[in-house]
Parts: sequence; C-alpha cells; structure tokens
Amino acid sequence: MALVPPKRRRGPGRGQEAGAGGAAVSSPAPLRFPGVTIYLAERHMGRSRRAFLTGLARAKGFRVDQAYSPEVTHVVMEGSSAAEASRWLDGVLGASGSLPRPLLLNISWFTESMGQGKPVPVESRHCLGVSLPTRSQADPNSLPAYACQRHTPLTHHNLCFTEALETLAEAAGFEDSQGRFLSFRRAASVLRALSGPITSMSQLRGLPSFGDHSSRIVQELLEHGVSSEVERVKQSERYKTMKLFTQIFGVGVKTADRWYREGLRTLADLQGQTRKLNRQQEAGIRYFEDLTRPVWRHEADAIQQVVEEAVWQVLPGATVTMTGGFCRGKLQGHDVDFLITHPVEGQEAGLIPKVMSHLESQHFQRELRRFSRTEKQLLLNSHGLYDPEKKESLPATSEEDIFTHLGLEYIAPEQRNA
Ligand code: TTP
Ligand code: MG
Repeated sequence: MALVPPKRRRGPGRGQEAGAGGAAVSSPAPLRFPGVTIYLAERHMGRSRRAFLTGLARAKGFRVDQAYSPEVTHVVMEGSSAAEASRWLDGVLGASGSLPRPLLLNISWFTESMGQGKPVPVESRHCLGVSLPTRSQADPNSLPAYACQRHTPLTHHNLCFTEALETLAEAAGFEDSQGRFLSFRRAASVLRALSGPITSMSQLRGLPSFGDHSSRIVQELLEHGVSSEVERVKQSERYKTMKLFTQIFGVGVKTADRWYREGLRTLADLQGQTRKLNRQQEAGIRYFEDLTRPVWRHEADAIQQVVEEAVWQVLPGATVTMTGGFCRGKLQGHDVDFLITHPVEGQEAGLIPKVMSHLESQHFQRELRRFSRTEKQLLLNSHGLYDPEKKESLPATSEEDIFTHLGLEYIAPEQRNA
C-alpha cells in the first residue's frame, strides 16, 4: 500500500480517480459531513472495489481521501484481521507519536453508513482492534429481521426444530397457502442462524418472525421430543403423495395436486397413465431413482466437466458456472445447478446478480429481494438492482457491490444457507 507522508497532505481528496468500479456515480456531491474523512485501505479490498466504494461514498456527500493523512478520521478495511489492522496503523503512525489516531473500522461501518446516507455512530462491533462476537452470537434476541442480514451457516444447532417447521412449511406450500408457508419458513430460518441450541421457551422471546404457531411446535418438541401436528402431517396420505409427486422431474405443485385429486397415489399409478405425462415427466418417472439420489460434491465436479464439454461443442467460449447449494458449502445436494453464459450475449455486466440469484438459498434470495423492495425501495432480480424512482440501474461488478448498494454487511455464500 502506498502511503503518503503527512506533509503531502491533500485537499479534500476528491475527483482524482477513475478506475473500473469508480463509476458507481458520475459526479461527486457536495461534502455533507465535515467531521468525517474516510480512507479506504486497498489491501484485500482491491483497486477496482476501492474505486467503486469511493465513488459511491462521494456521491453521497462523504469525503474520501485517496492518500492517508492526519486528516483521516475513519480508516475502513475489508478482510483484515484486527492484528493486521493494528500493525498497519502502528506502521503509519510509528514515526510520530503525536499524530491523531483515526478510527480503525471494518467494512460494516461503511456499508451501514452508505445504507443510511450518513455516517452511523461507531459501535464496538464496527471496530477493528478488538475481536468481538457477531451480533447473533452475542445476543440471539437481537437477531435482525431479514435473513439477508444474518449469517446462516450450513450446519446449525437446531435441526430437530427446523426440520419440523420446514415440514409444515412444505405442507403449506402443497396447499398453496403462501402465508403459512412463509411464516414457518421464516421461523425455521431464524433458528438456523442462532449460535446455540434452543433449550427453553424463554429463548424464543423477541426472535423476529416467530409467531404463535411456530412457538407451539417448538414447545411441543421441547416438552415431548415430538410434535403431534408434524407427525400427523408426515403420515397423511396427502403430504406423502404430494412429496412423492413433486420430486418427479417436471412436476410442480399444481400437477401433483391435480393427480392427487384424480386419485393417483404412486409412481406405478402414473406409469399406468402415460397419456397424462409430458416428455420431461415421463423421463422423470422412468429415471426416478437415479434423479432423486443425492449427488456428492465430487460427482458434481465430474458432471461440470461433462456439461462443459457438451456446451463447448455447440457454444464455444461459453462459461459454465456451478451455482446452487454446492457453492454454499454443501457436500451433498439434491441436484447440480449450472449457469451457462456466453460473452456474445453481452451478459458480463449482468452476470454478478445472475450468479448470485442462483447461488444463495431460495429463502435468502427471497429475503434479499424483500429487503431491497421494502427497506430501500429498490428492485432486485437476476438482472440486477434497479431504482424505479430514478429509473436507473445501479452498477455492480461484484457481489459486494450489491450488498453495499443495499447498505448491508457482505454475507459470504457459505453463510447464505437461510
Ligand atoms: P435448488 O437446486 O433448489 O437449491 P440448492 O441448490 O440451493 O440446494 P439443493 O439443490 O442442494 O437442495 O436451487 C438452486 C438455486 O436456484 C438456488 O440458488 C435458488 C434458486 N431457485 C430459485 O431462484 N427459484 C426456485 O424456485 C428454486 C427452486 C430455486
Ligand atoms: Mg441445487
């Protein structure tokens, strides 16, 4: 990192950079926060992301200096350990003990400030130099409301509760009951994000998205080890048949429901009714065992090679990107997801939101879009982020850019198992 000695102090440090992502916004806004001068450390962040973030902050009226100087009040680092940050600061200030010490902050302070359009008060969790537990670890009851604001690892501590709630969500989905589906799904997602197991009902107090019905299920499980409602659903002919039919390649809830109402119950029943099936469904039934067998990570890698060779035969230069659960750390999945793109489609700019939307869990994706719409009045889909009021797209050259536009802390793919 190139440092400039204090005597080469610059002015407000504006308008001198371009750089790939710096075009987040074209013209800097007037300075709005005189007490705040930000310095973004390039280390780990990379030049283009730094340029992008600089442009973003300046457009919102923040002063961001390109070079470090004693005028800097807020140093923002990304991906740096507390020790690394302190070493860096000691190196900068070492020569002169009298220089003022800036705040050493992780990127969360910056993204939250961008989200709110003003510098947010610095809290200890923003600070580098002290390693602090994440908010969810510190106090489960302070879990934020949206799944896209939480870290949700693949393995968690509340499997018996999440399985029960997800069964009820699935059953509600089979009945096309969107409200019930979402409320069970959200409750399960909250439990997935907790840093420890639920052992008493008092721990549910204050958890977001946790309604009476979900609480009753947890209570039953805590008291009896089993929920009579969940067991009843799992044993019901309706649930068992819908689960079986919706696992068939090419069959969704509507078709499964129609077949159920026609009295069909098993794969054998369907095999006797081939006129009801389209080509996909016919294949789905013929190869049912093979297609529903779990796939291991090493098999997914091998499949990628086969897919690439096949794709390149008809579309040389195409990119085959693995997406889905394996990108979130799964060692076993129910399928292998690929996104196939080609440069001639002019898709490079839109590739990031596309990959992202095929990578995160479906619930995380739903929540990220709900957050954008409800909290930021921005529309997010697999083509990108759009401001309907200004009628303009927000540029993004990395996943981090999208989180930053939304004022959200970056959540790594393996923490998007909401
Ligand atoms: P899935 O293959 O259903 O899920 P997954 O890969 O995350 O997990 P697994 O296969 O191991 O069970 O979905 C793949 C991606 O597609 C995922 O990122 C979410 C997205 N998706 C949608 O956008 N809409 C949908 O209706 C579904 C089912 C998935
Ligand atoms: Mg998948």
